[in-house]
Amino acid sequence: MVQNFLSILDLDPDRLGKLLELAAKLKRQRVKGMKAPTAAALNGKHVGLLFEKPSLRTRVTFTIGVRELGGDIVEIPADVMHADREPINDVARNLERWVDAVVIRTFAQERLQHITEITPNLHVINALTNEEHPCQALADMQTLSEKWPSFDGRRIAFVGDGNNVCTSLVHVAMMLGMAVHVATPKGYELPDEVVDQAAAVSQKGAGLTEYTDPKAAVRDADAVYTDVWTSMGQEVEYTDRSKTFKRYQVNENLMALAKPGALFMHCLPAHRGEEVTDEVIESPISVVFDQAENRLHAQKALLVQMLA
Ligand code: CP
Ligand code: NVA
Repeated sequence: MVQNFLSILDLDPDRLGKLLELAAKLKRQRVKGMKAPTAAALNGKHVGLLFEKPSLRTRVTFTIGVRELGGDIVEIPADVMHADREPINDVARNLERWVDAVVIRTFAQERLQHITEITPNLHVINALTNEEHPCQALADMQTLSEKWPSFDGRRIAFVGDGNNVCTSLVHVAMMLGMAVHVATPKGYELPDEVVDQAAAVSQKGAGLTEYTDPKAAVRDADAVYTDVWTSMGQEVEYTDRSKTFKRYQVNENLMALAKPGALFMHCLPAHRGEEVTDEVIESPISVVFDQAENRLHAQKALLVQMLA
């Protein structure tokens, strides 16, 4: 049983494999509606949603996911987290008395870590922090598992900022034994800690290779992934980042260097004309809406594993 899901590193390859299998099963069984075997899996359970940053996909998929599993959702307004109202410790200790789990989108990952330390009976799920976005990575792997017969020997290129989405992608791909090539401008690389973690959790000789040249990273890749250049909370850096990342745009020329039939991936929201062109994101190789759909199934699998 997984107590908290702050990071892909809270799983191991066996648990991750089982979670992806369950996600695929839940996707198939969704047509059964109330007759699905998991329709009452979270009966009597309350799940709080506490988002300190905007969200479409994560908020909607957790809301629907909990409901489809027979649980109850409580939307907690972000203003309760203002430090001048009450200490965050007290917010968490209150929640622990009422709800079974809380899904939190916040700034520093440390904040989530801290909450898990003071509320041992509360299940905490990371809905995105500055450092990691593990729920996204689960849906991304479900998407690839639908497109490829196996992960063995596959290579994913991530082009752009060595950010939260990139970190969780590296974690999950290493655990599933895939090679990841990451291209970032100097100064925007993955944190050293993540590079060490990648080596520590790598399976089947999978490796992380870092580049500054996007072309070198994308060559012969089976999938090319990008994300916004300016993440939530970095808005003041927008102008500088737009200049620095210009040559990291995923366009048809760059995609042409990947393997024939290579997939294009993006966690969304996307800024067309910046990190990706309209042509690429709207092309048949783009799986971005499959990724978005699979947020629902992968997170339902996670909720079943954690709470049912
Ligand atoms: N990909 C993702 O997490 O989307 P939202 O920010 O809309 O939740
Ligand atoms: N890196 C982006 C991901 C959004 C889902 C951000 O943190 O804003």
